[in-house]
Amino acid sequence: MKITIAGAGYVGLVTAACLADKGHDVICVDVNEEKIRRLNEGIVPIYEPGLEPLIQRNSARLRFTTDDAEAYRWAEVIMVAVGTPPLPDGSVKLDDVWETLRRIAASAERDCLVAIKSTVPVGTGDEAARFLAEHGRGGVRIDVVSNPEFLSQGTAVRDTLQAPRIVLGVESERAERIMKDLYAPFALPYVVTDRKSAEMIKYAANVFLALKISYINEIANVCELVGADIQAVAEGIGMDPRIGRRFLRAGVGYGGSCLPKDTKALYALAASHGYSLKTVWAAMDVNEKQKWKLFEKARAHLGVFSGRTAAVLGAAFKPGTDDVRESPALANIERLIAEGADVRVWDPAALGHVSRRFGDAVVCCETMEEAIRGADVCFIFTEWPAVLQFDLHRYKTLMNRPIVLDGRNCYDPKQADAAGLIYESIGRPV
Ligand code: UGA
Repeated sequence: MKITIAGAGYVGLVTAACLADKGHDVICVDVNEEKIRRLNEGIVPIYEPGLEPLIQRNSARLRFTTDDAEAYRWAEVIMVAVGTPPLPDGSVKLDDVWETLRRIAASAERDCLVAIKSTVPVGTGDEAARFLAEHGRGGVRIDVVSNPEFLSQGTAVRDTLQAPRIVLGVESERAERIMKDLYAPFALPYVVTDRKSAEMIKYAANVFLALKISYINEIANVCELVGADIQAVAEGIGMDPRIGRRFLRAGVGYGGSCLPKDTKALYALAASHGYSLKTVWAAMDVNEKQKWKLFEKARAHLGVFSGRTAAVLGAAFKPGTDDVRESPALANIERLIAEGADVRVWDPAALGHVSRRFGDAVVCCETMEEAIRGADVCFIFTEWPAVLQFDLHRYKTLMNRPIVLDGRNCYDPKQADAAGLIYESIGRPV
């Protein structure tokens, strides 16, 4: 099939590469000329394992362009994968979605289908369908489908090729047939429903994950108070298939561009209908407090930060990505700087973002050793493999005071103790 994808971000690029890999002809369009130029040279502008080889391998079926009008005229299916960033009140900025729809209306010359992959408020698909019916060229039929995306950064290619389900929010048999033809080579199960329900599935899924994380973080906080071990508790409850093992890792809270945004957006959506989503509010509140857990532990050890050296291991919101959006690490770095600490940051992928954000206020280190050498305290915010594999004795030999505060439960507390560390993690006995 001929598929045009609007937006060359995480979702757009990964979807484009995977669809091309399954034999479709794909054009990916973006307004950013520099990004398109680099993509045409085979350079992928985001850090996503496995994506660059997939794009290179499928270069015969995958094109990148800024000429959206031509790409929309050519396509049988147009997938909208542009950004929907948060607004200050928690609602979602849909300007790029509407601009894309306007341009599709003006350009599409033959019957086609628009599939919205961007995360959009419930009802957006219906509005889009009305808009395209009114403003599209006469005689051209444009069906609108909600086809939300569930990929995670860092595992995006695998998540797309081996998704547990494909959600199709359709309002016509034609739309359902076309979408099933498009996804047939993936051989994955479908959930076929109406557009609004499909849009709601996306929010309900992400917000459920956020609830799960905030719940386990609160249980971890209580474990600390009563002397229980959150790892054992998470394992014990996770083996119940009704609960499930995943997303039960206690830590310093969820970050990234999705869970924080989608919790706020769903809360705002319900509020706009006069409904207060209390569980979601609690999850957001817990997450906000959780990101300061290590900071409080550090203060208990050091008293003041002025004149102390703090090593920060990990700035990305999770391993496998260079994305620092809503990363608990950044909030902590900012506060450490404000309280007068000398901050040394290491991250294998996200240092560029750190140095752009904080400039000379932090020292960016190429190795973990460089960051922890001489430090009075070490914070772990991201469980990168290098952190997990690090020899615990090295902290003791390199640091001024071996206070290691682990926000992702990377080490066994007994081994940390045996290595001579003053080690604290989340929800486990000291
Ligand atoms: C999330 C969802 O997991 C995807 O299904 C969804 O498609 C995506 O948002 C999206 O809407 O685009 P992502 O933000 O890439 O994916 O990352 P997650 O793996 O969900 O992690 C989010 C945050 O939760 C990270 O900061 C991570 O460290 C934290 N987390 C995750 C925990 O603290 N504990 C856990 O057990 C799991």
